[in-house]
Amino acid sequence: MSNGLKKGLTSYGDSGFSLFLRKAFIKGAGYTDDALDRPIVGIANTGSAYNPCHGNAPQLIEAVKRGVMLAGGLPMDFPTISIHESFSSPTSMYLRNLMSIDTEEMIRAQPMDAVVLIGGCDKTVPAQLMGAASANVPAIQLVTGSMLTGSHRSERVGACTDCRRFWAKYRAEEIDDGEISSVNNQLVASVGTCSVMGTASTMACVAEALGMTVPGGASPPAVTADRIRVAERTGATAVAMVKSKLTPDRIMTAKAFENALRVLLAIGGSTNGVIHLTAVAGRLGIDLSLARLDELGRDTPVLVDLKPSGQHYMEDFHHAGGMHTLLRELKPLLHLDTLTVTGRTLGEEMEAAGEGFAQDVVRPRSNPIFPQGGIAVLQGNLAPGGAIIKQSAAHPKLMEHEGRAVVFENLEDLAKRIDDDKLDVTAEDILVLKNIGPLGAPGMPEAGYLPIPKKLARAGVKDMVRISDGRMSGTAAGTIVLHVTPESAIGGPLAYVKNGDRIKLSVKDRSIALLVSDAELAARAKANPVTPPRASRGYHKLFLQTVTQADKGVDFDFLRGQTPKSGA
Ligand code: FES
Repeated sequence: MSNGLKKGLTSYGDSGFSLFLRKAFIKGAGYTDDALDRPIVGIANTGSAYNPCHGNAPQLIEAVKRGVMLAGGLPMDFPTISIHESFSSPTSMYLRNLMSIDTEEMIRAQPMDAVVLIGGCDKTVPAQLMGAASANVPAIQLVTGSMLTGSHRSERVGACTDCRRFWAKYRAEEIDDGEISSVNNQLVASVGTCSVMGTASTMACVAEALGMTVPGGASPPAVTADRIRVAERTGATAVAMVKSKLTPDRIMTAKAFENALRVLLAIGGSTNGVIHLTAVAGRLGIDLSLARLDELGRDTPVLVDLKPSGQHYMEDFHHAGGMHTLLRELKPLLHLDTLTVTGRTLGEEMEAAGEGFAQDVVRPRSNPIFPQGGIAVLQGNLAPGGAIIKQSAAHPKLMEHEGRAVVFENLEDLAKRIDDDKLDVTAEDILVLKNIGPLGAPGMPEAGYLPIPKKLARAGVKDMVRISDGRMSGTAAGTIVLHVTPESAIGGPLAYVKNGDRIKLSVKDRSIALLVSDAELAARAKANPVTPPRASRGYHKLFLQTVTQADKGVDFDFLRGQTPKSGA
């Protein structure tokens, strides 16, 4: 197989001419033959003015390049799609698969012997790991790192658990226009990803557990010297991976995914992590089942004391030793023989990290934040394909609850009626939102965190059972059932729930039951059959025709599996 600049020549029918032409063009940028003979490390640049979570991309690229060159390689950065949570309409998840295709195809199309993937904001790391898994060129993840925390009237705040907390106070009329406006300046104190255990921090930790970052790569905040040193080490490691042909399929094995799930459960990680890990594994032909996730959760306690399940922020996790400290605690539960990007096993890297030290962010297994994993899997006639709940961030009293359904047909219906004082709702009711699944919205938006109806919020209600086929931000907390599968937009049972139906949630029994007979549900389905949404053109059409359900990772069906063999 050809390497370096000779790799993947453009087809002109004459390979000698193709290389001649390629070299002529690149020499226009001032490169020498000596530089062009080196192993090439591509650097996927996701810096964008629309993505402040990646605002340190220029500094990271400079440091990665330094690392590559110190190790004797030639760095070549190139742009791909960048996705920021707040700047992606209708929702970032709608674009994740598009970014994964962009990443995969640009890795494949351009000559590179290894690639450094610079990602961070929620959907970017999953998209890059999915693309890298499919391209199967030696790849290493570099996350941008978390933002710093801010201070509002001497209270420490950070995006975006505190964004939601302050907005809930504002809705409950506990704080005024002036205060909500002043806290808005403090929630995001620097560039970088959300400072709590949201999806970005979750995916950073999970990527390290998979073996796809350098050891210690998950936790340094974006604006620190530690983050820049991680970038330099990442560049040097990428060059070594060229020599050892360390492709993603050798690192991201079934055992590595089990390690990643353990970590997801132990950090009180984002529920989105389940979907993303399922999608990445699916690219490698590995099926992650919800049943296995639940099994692992039974004996994996939540140990990391970070918001929204706990108290601290990512920078505290870093000061506490980051993933080294967590992995040390989880050691008896992990597969230690999985490979990492360094070519050494996870167990060897843990040995090399040395002894722990006194800290109060990562708890010992004898004194967990929550005795089981952060996420529990629910089954029942309302979700024959499963649903999940972040039990570590739910209200203990509501986890065993039966109530009357208050149903919203879609997001518009929710926006129109949720704050209507005439809405027939009490704190004991269960809020149900339909049509926010993979096809429904489309793109499965993070709207599963339904707001507490204003009249109840004003009365001091902080949590209610909420059920939907959508997702929830990793920064949110509450007794919230998500990812109900199959979704309502394709005729899942959720589509046929009516106002006043009784629903029973039992996290202890892992069940979510609609207390309506099968015959009645079948009659409702017959009387009002669901027509799945369709689009006439473009990406929207491709999305609706090929997107899979939550239990398959919301990937496009034609992107799963078929990863080329190592070195191909
Ligand atoms: Fe980018 Fe939270 S918005 S990580």
